[in-house]
Amino acid sequence: MNRSEPYYLVCIGCGSKYSPSEVIYKCSKCGDLLSVEYDRKLMRNEVALRWRARALSVWRYAELLPIGDRSKIVSLGEGGTSLNRCNRLGRYLGLREVYIKNEGENPTGSFKDRGMTVGVTKALEMGMKRVACASTGNTSASLAAYAARAGMECIVLIPSGKVALGKLVQALIYGARVIQVRGNFDDALKMVEELCMIQPIYLLNSINPYRLEGQKTIAFEIWDQLGGRIPNKVIVPVGNAGNISAIWKGFRELYIMDLAKDLPRMVGVQAEGAAPIANMIKRGLNEIKFVEKPETVATAIRIGSPVNWKKAIRAIRESGGVAETVSDEEILSAQRLLAKMEGIFVEPASAAAIAGLIKLAKNGLVEQDDLIVCVATGHGLKDPDIILKQFERPVEIEVDVNTLIKILST
Ligand code: F0G
Repeated sequence: MNRSEPYYLVCIGCGSKYSPSEVIYKCSKCGDLLSVEYDRKLMRNEVALRWRARALSVWRYAELLPIGDRSKIVSLGEGGTSLNRCNRLGRYLGLREVYIKNEGENPTGSFKDRGMTVGVTKALEMGMKRVACASTGNTSASLAAYAARAGMECIVLIPSGKVALGKLVQALIYGARVIQVRGNFDDALKMVEELCMIQPIYLLNSINPYRLEGQKTIAFEIWDQLGGRIPNKVIVPVGNAGNISAIWKGFRELYIMDLAKDLPRMVGVQAEGAAPIANMIKRGLNEIKFVEKPETVATAIRIGSPVNWKKAIRAIRESGGVAETVSDEEILSAQRLLAKMEGIFVEPASAAAIAGLIKLAKNGLVEQDDLIVCVATGHGLKDPDIILKQFERPVEIEVDVNTLIKILST
């Protein structure tokens, strides 16, 4: 292993170490997931000061990101999303301090951009010319954009007919080769993993540990935006389970580096019809039972065999967190509530986190004084169809003010 870089890959199962220059996604000895680790001694002294001098963004935290040559970064201005205190929602739930981290503000409208700026830069660094992913929509939209930005060819596999319209049009306009698979996300992921083993194509699903490094900056930003305070609970919607693992890694790194004094409890929320991780946690099992035919209105998290399940289970259990399941009805109702009450329009998968918070509050599983952050992962405009299905067509009138006044008085 070449130790000239200040970071390396480590297997979360057997601890084997790999050089960052190897194109590798799983441990070649035991097949387990890989994680990026840093030479902390080198880092600790320099980071805090340097971070303060830069704007809030993914790259503010460059010292804890696995990139060698920073002049080659592929960026669209990702990160730096707002953390909105939601007093009305908080009052409604009897909670003092609730925040929404609005990841819909990212360049392609989801948190995936944080991972892709790092992942695609890495692909470029490694001399790869083609990138690929399987996706329920947001990953493909994001990868397509960053690949275009880097001048790379992009291949995306999506479950046929199960990707929200806004996400599909993004992948198309950014010039990706879009292939619909007659199967679900889990089938598409298996196919693309195989493809990337056979051909020199760089895989950018969240099994790629570099992508998660970008996503961990959600934790760094929350810590920064709260002036160094750490939330009691961070609530995250879970699909392929990369994001909750990444956010936990971010908080742990702050803690290990003595930049934060506490750790949050991680709360994972899944849709009832696609909840292998939440079910495993709630039942206290040691093995996961994958869901063969996942189903939910929140198509972004319509996933039955999450590849990062081990990391996610570790994040929830290590942090003393919990998992919750929510129904489609609860998801859509939370989506409407958040939009109407706080002016924040999120897609259904993101609303799952809010639905989870509502359920925990009802069941007394959050304290009134808890500092709570819900991660709203994607913008509501991604999936306009689901909204149109719930609302009647707006009333139509002639060009006549009297009619308008009459209508408004009813
Ligand atoms: N929220 C949104 C809006 C998502 O798009 C995803 C995942 C998640 C939550 C769950 O995150 O997979 O890290 O647990 N979307 C992936 C995709 C699967 O293909 O866009 P996760």
